[in-house]
Amino acid sequence: MKGEIYKKDSMIDLKYLKLILAIDKNGSLKKASTQLNLTQSALSHQLKKIEDYLGIAIFNRSGNQLLITEAGKELKEKGGLILNDLNVLELRILEIKQNHLKRYIHGYSESEAQRLKDQAKSIEEFLHYDSLWEIGSTILEVGCGVGAQTEIIAQKNKGCRFNSIDISKESIKKAQSRIKELGISNVKFQTCDVYDLNPKEAERYDHVFVCFILEHVSEPEKMLQHIYNLIKPGGSISIIEGDHGSTLFFPENNYTRKVINAQIELQRKKGGNANIGRQIYPLLQSSGYSMIEVSPRQIYVDNNKKALIKGFIENTFTAMMKGIAEDVIHEGLISKSDFELGIKGLMRTTNKDGIFSYTFFKGHGIKK
Ligand SMILES: C[S@@+](CC[C@H](N)C(=O)[O-])C[C@H]1O[C@@H](n2cnc3c(N)ncnc32)[C@H](O)[C@@H]1O
Repeated sequence: MKGEIYKKDSMIDLKYLKLILAIDKNGSLKKASTQLNLTQSALSHQLKKIEDYLGIAIFNRSGNQLLITEAGKELKEKGGLILNDLNVLELRILEIKQNHLKRYIHGYSESEAQRLKDQAKSIEEFLHYDSLWEIGSTILEVGCGVGAQTEIIAQKNKGCRFNSIDISKESIKKAQSRIKELGISNVKFQTCDVYDLNPKEAERYDHVFVCFILEHVSEPEKMLQHIYNLIKPGGSISIIEGDHGSTLFFPENNYTRKVINAQIELQRKKGGNANIGRQIYPLLQSSGYSMIEVSPRQIYVDNNKKALIKGFIENTFTAMMKGIAEDVIHEGLISKSDFELGIKGLMRTTNKDGIFSYTFFKGHGIKK
């Protein structure tokens, strides 16, 4: 029997380590058994078993008292470290799980940062020809990310001051260095959640700009109502969102459709809505805004539009789909082979006879 624990498992069972720590802490079997939720005789039996296995006493009995031996001290100290490491490990796994749950469908990787920049640049004119505010305005940009839209709107509105915020510290750092590199001086960045701005910043802003955020949040109306409180009476909100259901392409391809639908479903599962563009009008309405105007911004690409083939079909839309490959396959929303065929179908639209079309929606509303 002696030494069997090593032969059998090559390790000391964690339950014995917990037991040793509990007995040492409580000084008696009675109190330790309460802590461990065991009967006193079960605890006594287990202690005897581990002592028999090791062939050495862990505690010396002195009346009702148990005094830890030299071997016991060693087990207590090293065992305590192991149990502590296990707790830390468990917390770390919980943290990863939380981050995973909260994680943006597109994440915060370098390639996603580049994709956001390519997206902003390739469709700048479609989305921003009217992103103009009166000189002297203070504008809040919510969810500026890596600053892909910030650099465009800040340069178009040199007479305005921008407060650009994002919950991602890493993204803010990237945005800051990019804006500095470009020599833009009318933007102040802050890492924060838009929900933390109220009430101290209530009615502080002339205008608010929101781009590609509502599609990712589970309660877009709540966010719009919250933002409403931050705007001065007479001020405005501008929103830009996509709508994956608006995608048209030639030649038609069932696999490509499957890929897009898998993306829409993944986003839905994570609490977002990839087809939110069509809902900007009703959302602004139900959140209290007035004089609402929404305009669809169709990006139509055929072989005459070489810059958009690269910048939009390849580097924006296809890159976005490729970026969620692992997740949609892992979630069982599409098979790997169908996904690959779908991406091929997307790239096929860049051929001489192909076309690709996607519609963004830009909305504008006033706070009365
Ligand atoms: C898809 S990115 C868009 C970034 C940028 N607007 C663009 O168009 O390139 C959405 C961003 O919104 C940020 N975000 C989401 N919820 C937020 C919140 N409650 N407060 C502040 N930022 C938020 C995310 O961290 C992310 O960087």
